[in-house]
Amino acid sequence: MPKSVSRHRQIKALCDIALHKLRRDGLASFLKSGTERLRHLYASKQAPSDFDRQYGTDTGGIVPLWKLQIRSSHQRDGVRYQASDPDFVRRAIEALPIRPKDFQYVDVGSGKGLTLLVASEYPFRRILGIEFSAELHAIATENIRKHPRPKCQDVSSVLADAANYDFSAENTILFLYNPFGKDVLQSMLEKLRASVVQDDREIYVVYSHSVFSQVFDESGFLERMQVPIEAAVYRHLPAHDILHDSPRPHIHVVRKN
Ligand SMILES: C[S@@+](CC[C@H](N)C(=O)[O-])C[C@H]1O[C@@H](n2cnc3c(N)ncnc32)[C@H](O)[C@@H]1O
Repeated sequence: MPKSVSRHRQIKALCDIALHKLRRDGLASFLKSGTERLRHLYASKQAPSDFDRQYGTDTGGIVPLWKLQIRSSHQRDGVRYQASDPDFVRRAIEALPIRPKDFQYVDVGSGKGLTLLVASEYPFRRILGIEFSAELHAIATENIRKHPRPKCQDVSSVLADAANYDFSAENTILFLYNPFGKDVLQSMLEKLRASVVQDDREIYVVYSHSVFSQVFDESGFLERMQVPIEAAVYRHLPAHDILHDSPRPHIHVVRKN
C-alpha cells in the first residue's frame, strides 16, 4: 500500500476516534482529556526513564491503542498507554490511611506494569494489574520478572477487560490512571458494587487524571476523601452506612449534595 494512503487511513481513524469521544463525553471532558495528553506527551519523549535505567525494565513511551491488537468491544473507550510518574504512585499509596499488609493493590488498566512494580516497594498482600492489550500485558509480565519486587513477591499482570473483571473479596486499593471512558467505568463500578454487596470490605480508589470523576461521585457506595495528592480519592468502608452518616473520625470526607 502506498505510504500516503496508509497515512490518510491513520488520520481518518484518529479523526473518527476524536469525533466519537467528543460526542460521547461532551466538549468539556474532551478538551480536558486532550490537554492532559499534550501535557504528558513532552515528558514521555524523554525515555528511558530513571526507573527503567535502574531496573532494566521497559515502561516508557506512549502507545496509542489503535496500534495494538485488542480483542474487546471497549477498545474505542480506552485511553492510550502511558506510565504514571513513580513518585506520584508512592505519594498516593503513602497518603492512604491503610496498612498495606491488609490490602491487595489493583491497577485497572495497568499497561506495562509500572505502578505494580512501584507498589511492590510496599508489603501489600497481593498486587495485580488488569490490562486488555496482550502486547502490553506481555511486556508487564517481563517487567515483573526483571524487577526485584522488594516487599511483595505476589505481583502479576492479568489479561482481561476491566468492564468484565470479577474483583476478589479482599480489602482493595484500586489505582486508575484515566484508563477509559464513562461506559467502561460504569460497568467496572457496577461489578465492584455487586462484589461489595456480596462481601463487604474496605475499598479505596485513587483516580489520577480524573476526567470522569462524576461517575465515582454518583456511584452511591463510594465517598470522596480529601487527600493531598493530585487525584480524586474515594473510599468505601465495611458496614459503613452512607445513608446514616457514620464516617470514621480521622478521615475528612467531602460530601456531594
Ligand atoms: C494511561 S494508561 C495507564 C497505565 C498504568 N496504569 C500506569 O499508570 O502506569 C491506560 C491503560 O489502560 C488500558 N485499558 C484501557 N481500557 C481498558 C479496559 N477496558 N480493560 C483493561 N485495560 C484497559 C490501556 O491499554 C492502557 O494500558
